Formats: sequence, structure tokens, C-alpha cells
Amino acid sequence: MTPDISGPKNRGWLSPIVHLSNNWISLAGVVIVTTAVVFWLFLLPITLKGEASNPYIGILVFLGLPAPFFAGLILIPLGIWVKRRREGSTGIYPRDFPPLTWRNFELRKLVYFFVATTVLNLAIASQVTYGAVNYMDSVTFCGETCHTVMQPEFKAYQNSPHSRVECVKCHIGPGAGWFVKSKLSGVGQVFAVTFHTYPTPIPTPVHNLRPARETCEQCHWPQKYGEDRLKVISKYAVDENNSLTKTVLLMKIGGGNNGIGIHGTHLGADVTIRYGHSDEARQNIPWVEYEVKGKKTVYATSDAKPDGAGLTIRTMDCMDCHNRPAHSYDLPDGALDKAMHDGLISASLPFAKKKAIEILKVNYLSRDEAAQKIPAAFAKYYQDSYPAIWAQRQSEVASSAKELLAVYDRNIFPDMKVTWGAYPINIGHTDFPGCFRCHDGAHAPKTGDPITQDCNACHNILSMDESNPKVLTDLGIVESKADRK
Ligand code: HEC
Ligand code: HEC
Ligand code: HEC
Ligand code: HEC
Ligand code: HEC
Repeated sequence: MTPDISGPKNRGWLSPIVHLSNNWISLAGVVIVTTAVVFWLFLLPITLKGEASNPYIGILVFLGLPAPFFAGLILIPLGIWVKRRREGSTGIYPRDFPPLTWRNFELRKLVYFFVATTVLNLAIASQVTYGAVNYMDSVTFCGETCHTVMQPEFKAYQNSPHSRVECVKCHIGPGAGWFVKSKLSGVGQVFAVTFHTYPTPIPTPVHNLRPARETCEQCHWPQKYGEDRLKVISKYAVDENNSLTKTVLLMKIGGGNNGIGIHGTHLGADVTIRYGHSDEARQNIPWVEYEVKGKKTVYATSDAKPDGAGLTIRTMDCMDCHNRPAHSYDLPDGALDKAMHDGLISASLPFAKKKAIEILKVNYLSRDEAAQKIPAAFAKYYQDSYPAIWAQRQSEVASSAKELLAVYDRNIFPDMKVTWGAYPINIGHTDFPGCFRCHDGAHAPKTGDPITQDCNACHNILSMDESNPKVLTDLGIVESKADRK
């Protein structure tokens, strides 16, 4: 006994449709629609629960799958229409249709087809969605999918203390709330990349970062980030000997909860600092409000309006000082100091630093051009000016030249207009305003002292540009092979 599933009143219009649906266009539509629905059902719970912290899964769920779904939906009637026209014009369109029972071959074919596609899709979706979601959270996906766009950040990231921290740990992070906020900017980004409407360089700060304290304190909890630290900065002069000097600072990082030192004064338990900035990059800060245990003091420049009127107000957090924890670019001077200190560019080649700076500062139109010209220019200098050195130490010159190119490649991205100094770093005060955005002696309350610019407030300067600082010998600190000689 086979049931008549059409019911008497449907037979009139449903039977022709069943007949007409058996065509390749409509069946392709069915495959697409079922695939989209099955994958959508698998992804939806993940996105709603907020397990996936990545905006691109949102894009897939809210944009990537609905698009083919609707396209598939259009294909089904389109196939029906095409078949109706063809059969009509060639005169093979049937006059009558068999009843919609299980014996109806065309109905059976359609049902089998539908069931088979669904089962297949379920099998595939259950296997691949989990992997796909994980893949989208991965560093490879974030750093390499939009290759040109993310290349500067990806390169800098690989070189940072956070090179083992996934992009999504800072950008977005876990939690449904942030997922919803980030989703839209993710969709916007995909359009921008597709149609090449993104700005270059990518403007900073990014707006879909989670609040810094939630993000950073997953790993750097306040009790932990509090020890004072010795900082040794090696510098090479632009003279023939690349003379090495050292600055030694004792950074007064201070306790997270103790209210002392750099961390404690800005982020201690009872402290809130709010500030007003006039530019998007937060480099210009005319107004600062410092609140300790409910007592507020306003420090402002002479031209700032009361209450920071006309400025964008922000509460200070980790990112106001550590704004480039994963993507910090060097200036030529600092980059070369590091490379020479690590022995990657030989400090015993005469005028190596001076020449290297000159070569780095040339404006190359592309990374390819730089790859050809930088090593060649460095080698040529020794070939022409120091033939004796060139004759004896060619491989040393060549490996230094190679590292010089690596310095360029880590820092300069002509396609994204990322050049020397494109992204200011807010730690310190020598290359960019940094701490001195507020600690410049010009931010004062109505009565009392301005925000301190005392050279020993943030660090004790144990030695400044000395070739052989006593403090390092006293402590027995050996920094590199160069120190031993
Ligand atoms: C330790 C946290 C952290 C990690 C990990 C991280 N970022 Fe960032 N990223 C930031 C911060 C903070 C900013 C904002 C910089 C600023 O305000 O100057 C930023 C900015 C950016 C920007 C905006 C442009 C710019 O340079 O300011 C892009 C693009 C970006 N990150 C991509 C990535 C990619 C891709 C990865 C993984 C390969 C990644 N980030 C990993 C913290 C992080
Ligand atoms: C998933 C864990 C994780 C998160 C999230 C994270 N970090 Fe880190 N951070 C690390 C690790 C690991 C190191 C490397 C420690 C080392 O080198 O000994 C590090 C190192 C650092 C350092 C020291 C760098 C140095 O030169 O020694 C700073 C500063 C820092 N992180 C700031 C931040 C800030 C600001 C954020 C938030 C935007 C953040 N971190 C988010 C794990 C994390
Ligand atoms: C007022 C600016 C400022 C703020 C705000 C700030 N830091 Fe720092 N932090 C510094 C400075 C300066 C150093 C020392 C840097 C150096 O020596 O190179 C430092 C050092 C660190 C280090 C390395 C400590 C070590 O022992 O090596 C970590 C980790 C760190 N900060 C994390 C954080 C986190 C997490 C936050 C937010 C909760 C934060 N910082 C907020 C200025 C700041
Ligand atoms: C948004 C403004 C602002 C920025 C940027 C800023 N500070 Fe401060 N800082 C303050 C205020 C306000 C105080 C409290 C007033 C004071 O002590 O002079 C303060 C106090 C301090 C103190 C305590 C001084 C003392 O005498 O006890 C230290 C140390 C310090 N800051 C270090 C830094 C460092 C290091 C940076 C850069 C990495 C920095 N600050 C960036 C606003 C800022
Ligand atoms: C508000 C805090 C603060 C004040 C005030 C301050 N510094 Fe600094 N200084 C820093 C920080 C932070 C660094 C960066 C350390 C690093 O490289 O991570 C730094 C770095 C330096 C360096 C090494 C920079 C380099 O690359 O050679 C020197 C030298 C220096 N400071 C001198 C001074 C002198 C001189 C004064 C007094 C006019 C002063 N500082 C006042 C916070 C401060």
C-alpha cells in the first residue's frame, strides 16, 4: 500500500511542478540550497554561543551562506521555466500527469535526490565545520588570507614577543558580546578588501579590539606585571668604528596593585585616568583627569577647554602605553643598533652603520626593487671604498647586506604605504612623543605641579651613552660576544 502524499487538492499544480523540477538547473539549485541550509545549521549554534571569536565565521553565517542559498532558490524555478519553455515549443510537454504516489517515478527520483544530498551534506558538514572554524581562528588565516593588507602587521607580529599569541586573542577575544560587536566590522573589512577601498596605511587604533585589560590580563595579571627591570640600550655611532655606547636604565615598572611605579600610578586599584585627545591617533592630549580614591585632579595645557570640551575622552588602559605590543616597527637607527648588537650586521666593517642608514632611507618603489638594490649597494660600497676588506671578507659583507635587506623587509611595505615612522610607539619619549604626550611639563592643574617630567620618576638613569658602564661590570652583565673582548 503506498500513500498518496499529494492530497487531492494539490494534484492540480503540484504534479506538473514535480515533472518540471527534474532538470539539471533545478537539481543544482536543490544541491546548493540544501548545502547552504545544512552548513548554516551547523555554524549557527557555534556563532550564537560565541565559541567562535572570529568575525569571518560571522561573515560566512550571515553573508557567505545566505548568498548561495538565495542563488539556489532562484535556480529551482529558473530550471522549471526553462524546461517548460523547451517542452512547450517542441510539443513534448505531457497533457496529463501520473498521480503523486510512490509509484510516480519522477517524484521518487526527486525525493531520493533530496535525501541523498542532505545525507551527504550532513556527513561532510559534521566533519569540516569544526576544522574550518578552527582554521579561521588561526594565525595563518588572519595573517595570510588578506596577504597584502595584513602583511605589515603579520611580519611585525612574527618578530614580536607575542608571536605565539593568536591574532584573535587580542583582536576580539572570546565571548559572545564581543563577537556581535566585531561581526559588522568584519563584514565591512571583507568588502573593503574585495573592492580595494581600504585606507593605506590601515588607520590606528583599530576599533574592534577588546578592552585592553580584559585581553592583556588573561596572561599578564596585575600582580605579575610589576617588577622593576634593568634595561640596557646599545647604540652604535655613525663613525668609522661604529663606536658602541650603552645606556642603562632601571625602569620603575612598579606594582600593579600597589599604586606605585609606572603601572601602579596609572592603573592601580583606586586609580582612574581619563584623557581628552584631539586627533584619531591619540597623539595630541591637551586634557587629563587623574582620579585617586575619588579625588580628582585635572591637568591641562593652557589652551585646553574646561572638562576637555571638544575632545574625545578615553579612559587610560594598557594600550595607551603598549600600543604596539605585537606590531612594532623600528626606525632605521634603532633597527640597525639591534641587528649590529645581535651580530647580524658586522660592527667591524668600517662605516657600516652610516652606510646602512643611507641605504635604508632611500625611497624604493617596491619590495622587489629594494631586494635588488639594497644588498648590491652595500656590497658596492666596500668594493669601491675598501677593496682590501672586500677582497678578504666578502662573505661577511654579503651576510651583513642580506640582514640589511631583512631589516627593510620587516619595516617597509610600499603597497600599504607603511614607511619609517608610519605607526608611532607610545612607550618612551625619544622617537615619538609617547609618555611626553602628558609628561611634558606643560600639563598643569590650576594650582600645583604639572605632571612630572623628572628624569628619575620613570627610570633611574644608571648610565647614559657610556662605552663601558661601571654598573654593568659591577653586576657582571655580559650582553653579547662584543662585551667580552
Ligand atoms: C598582543 C596583542 C595582539 C596580537 C596577538 C595581534 N594584535 Fe594586531 N593589534 C594589536 C593592537 C593593540 C593594535 C592597535 C595598535 C595601535 O593602536 O597603535 C593592533 C592593530 C592591528 C591592525 C591595524 C593596523 C595597525 O598596524 O595598527 C591590524 C591590521 C592588525 N593588528 C592585525 C593583526 C594580525 C593579522 C595579527 C595576527 C597575525 C595580530 N594583529 C595580532 C594587538 C595585537
Ligand atoms: C595569550 C597570552 C597573552 C596575551 C593575551 C597578551 N600577552 Fe603580552 N606576553 C605574552 C607572552 C607569552 C610574552 C613573552 C614573555 C617573554 O618573552 O618572556 C608577553 C610579553 C609581553 C610584554 C613584554 C615584552 C618585552 O619586551 O619583554 C609586554 C609589554 C606585553 N606582553 C604586553 C601585552 C599587552 C599590552 C597585551 C594586551 C594587548 C598583551 N601583552 C596580551 C602573552 C600574552
Ligand atoms: C603608563 C604607561 C603604561 C601602562 C598604562 C601600562 N604599562 Fe606596562 N609597561 C610600561 C613601561 C614603560 C614598561 C617598561 C618597558 C620597558 O622597559 O621596555 C612596561 C612593562 C610591561 C611589561 C614587561 C614587564 C617585565 O617585567 O618585563 C608587561 C608584561 C606589561 N608592561 C604589561 C602591561 C599590562 C598588561 C598593562 C595593562 C594592565 C600595562 N602594562 C599598562 C608602561 C605602561
Ligand atoms: C594620558 C596622560 C599620561 C600618559 C600618556 C602617561 N602618563 Fe604617567 N602620569 C599621568 C598622570 C596624570 C600622573 C599623576 C600625576 C603625577 O604624578 O605627576 C602620572 C604619573 C606617572 C608616574 C608617577 C610619578 C611620580 O612622581 O610618582 C610615573 C612613574 C609615570 N606617570 C610614568 C609614565 C610613563 C613611563 C609613561 C609612558 C609610557 C606615562 N607615564 C604616560 C598621566 C600620563
Ligand atoms: C614619564 C616617564 C619618563 C620620564 C619623565 C622620562 N623618561 Fe626617559 N624613558 C621613559 C621610558 C618609558 C623609556 C623607554 C624605555 C624603553 O625603551 O622601553 C625612556 C627612555 C629613555 C632613554 C633611552 C632612550 C634611547 O633609546 O636611547 C633615555 C636616554 C631617557 N629616557 C632619558 C630621559 C631623560 C634625560 C629624562 C628627563 C628629561 C627622561 N628620560 C624622563 C620614561 C620617562
